[in-house]
Amino acid sequence: MKANYKLTLAAALIALIGLISPALHAQAPVHKPAPKVPKLGQSSLKAVIDAMTVEEKAKLVVGMGFKFPGMPAPAKGEKPKPIDIGGFKLPPSDPEAYEVPEKVAGTAGRTHAIPRLGIPSITVSDGPAGLRIDPTRPNDKNTYYATGFPVATLLASSWDTALVKKVGVAFGNEIREYGVDIILGPGMNIHRNPLNGRNFEYYSEDPLVSGSMAAAIINGIQSQGVGVSAKHFAANNQETNRNSINEVISERAMRELYLRNFEIAVKKSQPWTVMSSYNKINGTYTSERRDLLTDVLKREWGLKGFVMTDWFGGHDAVAQMNAGNDLLMPGNPDQSAAIVEAVKNGTITMVQLDANVARLLKIILKSPTFKGYKFSNKPDLKGHAQVTRMAAAEGMVLLKNDDASLPIAKGKRVAVFGNTSYSIIAGGTGSGDVHKAYTISLLQGLKNAGYKVQGELAKAYTSYLADAKAKQPKNANFFMAPPPIPEYNADSLVSREADGADEAIITIGRNAGEGQDRKVENDFMLSSTEKGLILGVSNAFHAKGKKVVVVLNVGGVTEIASWRDQVDGILLAWQPGLEAGNSIADVLSGRVTPSGKLASTFPVKYEDVPSAKYFPGKEFPLPEGQKPNPMVGRPSEVTYQEGIYVGYRYYDSFKVNPAYEFGYGLSYTSFKVSGVKLSSNDFKGSLNVTLTVKNTGKVAGKEVVQLYLSAPTATLDKPAQELKAFAKTGLLAPGQSQVITLTLHTADLASYYTDRNSWVADAGEYKVMIGTSSRQIVKTESFKLDKEIVVEKTHDSLKPEVPIDEMINK
Ligand code: BGC
Repeated sequence: MKANYKLTLAAALIALIGLISPALHAQAPVHKPAPKVPKLGQSSLKAVIDAMTVEEKAKLVVGMGFKFPGMPAPAKGEKPKPIDIGGFKLPPSDPEAYEVPEKVAGTAGRTHAIPRLGIPSITVSDGPAGLRIDPTRPNDKNTYYATGFPVATLLASSWDTALVKKVGVAFGNEIREYGVDIILGPGMNIHRNPLNGRNFEYYSEDPLVSGSMAAAIINGIQSQGVGVSAKHFAANNQETNRNSINEVISERAMRELYLRNFEIAVKKSQPWTVMSSYNKINGTYTSERRDLLTDVLKREWGLKGFVMTDWFGGHDAVAQMNAGNDLLMPGNPDQSAAIVEAVKNGTITMVQLDANVARLLKIILKSPTFKGYKFSNKPDLKGHAQVTRMAAAEGMVLLKNDDASLPIAKGKRVAVFGNTSYSIIAGGTGSGDVHKAYTISLLQGLKNAGYKVQGELAKAYTSYLADAKAKQPKNANFFMAPPPIPEYNADSLVSREADGADEAIITIGRNAGEGQDRKVENDFMLSSTEKGLILGVSNAFHAKGKKVVVVLNVGGVTEIASWRDQVDGILLAWQPGLEAGNSIADVLSGRVTPSGKLASTFPVKYEDVPSAKYFPGKEFPLPEGQKPNPMVGRPSEVTYQEGIYVGYRYYDSFKVNPAYEFGYGLSYTSFKVSGVKLSSNDFKGSLNVTLTVKNTGKVAGKEVVQLYLSAPTATLDKPAQELKAFAKTGLLAPGQSQVITLTLHTADLASYYTDRNSWVADAGEYKVMIGTSSRQIVKTESFKLDKEIVVEKTHDSLKPEVPIDEMINK
């Protein structure tokens, strides 16, 4: 406190001299100039902070509050009442949330302005797959629809960071032109378990893919002068009890998986902000963990931006400030009051509060709002639709293609089955949803691509869906997606269609989102109607020598092994954004050669998933008198007993065969990878692997090459192999080749030694596997590291409170 006081005094003196000295040189003024109040951007940051009262600082670090849709504003001068959500009382918003007009309607939150110091309010908005704002506004004829980009899971499956950056550029332009400063995305939690309801918002089971994709989209978005909030930091890997769950995780699993992707993204793209998650890790809310937010994120990785909470996340504003959670969102006045009080009684030092304020101000300085950017409200939606259409096709994964059943020749007559062929799912629900002007259905996309579609079948589906939609509950809550419409039973139409059409397409659709996890029955698994549909259509069409193709319109991993033998082709189209039908038709028709590869494993059955036995954890009894409420969740705990063995790290080490492995995906052409060569067989700080990819087939296409590393295990149990580098070729014409160089750095060799708090590259022999999937390895080479290298010493952080009985690969 004292030191700070001295600094303040010194600054005041300097400021005073600064004011006086020009006056000494100038002619004597007629009137004394008004004392200058520091202004953000014109004065030093320090001067601005020093000029702030404690109350102003406490206001800046707490958001302006959330205007619940449909909640009436409190009467003038009246304190807003707590918001009752099914019996749970949320603290009331700052009256200003209702009084000060929003800059952009329908966004998720804002910071407070402090006009006397030139500090504007900045606006943040969801979400990862497009800007979530109100598309129509009272007394306004204009519309504000946004582009629904493909979901993150699809983008990751492109394995193309340049493409993902391009999506980011379009996205960033839209954020800026609609007047928003920071987008609440990308989502980048690791796919620990396929049932996580928000997996569609996240990239992969692998931290390198996840971190690289996040960095690419962040660099794209931030190139447009707006910021991101990479979320949810960290280990927010389930929706069940998301606000209360205590995640018991080893330091090694944290370091190697759940932090690693964020580390990559922070170092490669400096996100303006990071969002702390709802969950606890080893007993403490992430937003209240100083080791996580200050030691690891800011000190070790060098995050320059600020940390904000997830909405209403964590409990203790003072602990959050002290942890280095710089901004509390959406914010309420009680939090500001608690912070002021804590400064007075010394539980928050002024140094800490000033550090939080400084981080916020540095980002505010960069924001379009601060710069007075005149946004147009007219982003290039048409141009962005083309970016989306192209990107979506690049991330689709061809899982099966017997007898070249795909592509389907132009002009063919297709019978289109499956609800979502007519009502396609462009993206998931909750804050990850986008208000799109339109979505192209698969039916429309097929027509646009020049196919003839079976009209009677289309009519039957369309009228069934119209009826079913009319009967759906109207006020489905924000967090709860409306229940899926049961699959139409088309049995009676199948044989007629098999006569009339040349080929059948069946879509299987799945939707999920914030607030709840998926189920095994009728979600991860197909329903009996869906299975019946696939079997019935396949039998009828095959009897006539006609092909059947399934299109998976899903946000996450589903079961395929039990029915795949019945069909000829399977295209994993994911949730492809607003041009969905056109993007899918581009691949089905061969306009685009599929080049996507799985960024998460598709297991044979749910029980094979390494975390299946532990997900989503155990619940404890509710405290006396407390009613269950989804906003709070039940006291609960989940132990990550699978440790580092997530995804292919498990399947490959424990020799469990998946339905489709990590990195897998087919093409309409074929490739040969040859000439794999290491720059050296001794590792000396870095090592290059060169190889040639040749298109040996008949159509143009792209291939993804993957470098897996198998490290020595004499002193530490390690996965059989880990992805350490990847690259996608350009579009190669038949016969064309491309030379690719992949580089290994020392950090790629290292594993995390908990007892030494260090990343260590062990001495010994390393195997380099070059493949076109984690199981299609074309060449294995090796190199030696003579002496162990301690790559990095870390803080001793995130210690579990209890021993964890972790899986090891003996
Ligand atoms: C979600 C965040 C989102 C925030 C603001 C929360 O419920 O978890 O991902 O950005 O709401 O809408």
